[in-house]
Amino acid sequence: MRRGSIIQLTAIGLVAGAICTAVALAIPWLPVAGGQEAGRIHFVYWFTTVIAICVFSVVTAVLVYSVWKFRAGPDDDSDGPPTHGHTQLEIVWTAIPAVLVTAISIVSAIVLAQNGHAGTNPLVIKVEARQFAWKFTYPNGTSFGTLTLPQGRHVKLDITADDVIHSFWVPQLSQKQDAVPGQHNFIVITPTHIATYPVVCTELCGLGHALMRSQVDILAPADYEKWVAQGGTASSGPPGLAVFQQNGCAGCHTFKPALATGNVGPNLDNLAQEAKQANRGALDAFIKESIVKPQAYIAPGFTDAMPHTFGTQIPPDKLQQLVQYLAKGA
Ligand code: CUA
Repeated sequence: MRRGSIIQLTAIGLVAGAICTAVALAIPWLPVAGGQEAGRIHFVYWFTTVIAICVFSVVTAVLVYSVWKFRAGPDDDSDGPPTHGHTQLEIVWTAIPAVLVTAISIVSAIVLAQNGHAGTNPLVIKVEARQFAWKFTYPNGTSFGTLTLPQGRHVKLDITADDVIHSFWVPQLSQKQDAVPGQHNFIVITPTHIATYPVVCTELCGLGHALMRSQVDILAPADYEKWVAQGGTASSGPPGLAVFQQNGCAGCHTFKPALATGNVGPNLDNLAQEAKQANRGALDAFIKESIVKPQAYIAPGFTDAMPHTFGTQIPPDKLQQLVQYLAKGA
């Protein structure tokens, strides 16, 4: 091959590589890596991306050079010269991708193993998904609708579902895991930043799927200990608020006293008026029926989307607290 051709090939390859690199770097494709596992996963992404840019540059250089250099003249109807492969070249273009793919596999396997490692003393939190809310239960038995984690500690999430398949995902923490009824799936997350990130359901699970969101608050270790000592945020405020939060009511309903803004189900700020409209007895009785037997009366404009299981899930005393809390708000 002539020296001129090599220079031309190299030039095309460098231009293609530069364009790709600019696209890769200029656009923020990935969220902030808020945990150790996310950092490793991002490393795999970049490791693969760099390899892909190199391969793309070489292929583009050869393609553009060939199209331009060996193009047929305007009136050239003749056949090209017969070519019968090139053994050395074929060995090279098989061996190099094999090495690259093997390298990606090894790096991925190492990251997968590291990301599954929970250390000797992880904080184990039970995660229950349900249409359309999350419930996080701590080792001391308290549960919340939002997740609060200490910075810098391995957290092992024990994930399951009550009804259909959901999937737990915090984009900034990268680890993603399906929540399957009757099955316990585990992931490890180790937050590195003090921040608040969204918890997203990432498996189509029904009418309220898009709104099945919660949040994770990552606190400094000392603040986290304080939060635990105070029994978590749900203990401050009326007892009904804790029941409201633990059962994920905020995932579907708007209720100002609880700062809830869901809109899958009816707005609970106008319950007194709603009860009158429904004409199904006193306000307390109407609220209770709507929780334990939601199909008995469907508010105009809504469907029978609320789970029919709260009657058996919420103990009677808690149910009473919740009814009073909602009645008071109305
Ligand atoms: Cu739960 Cu989508």
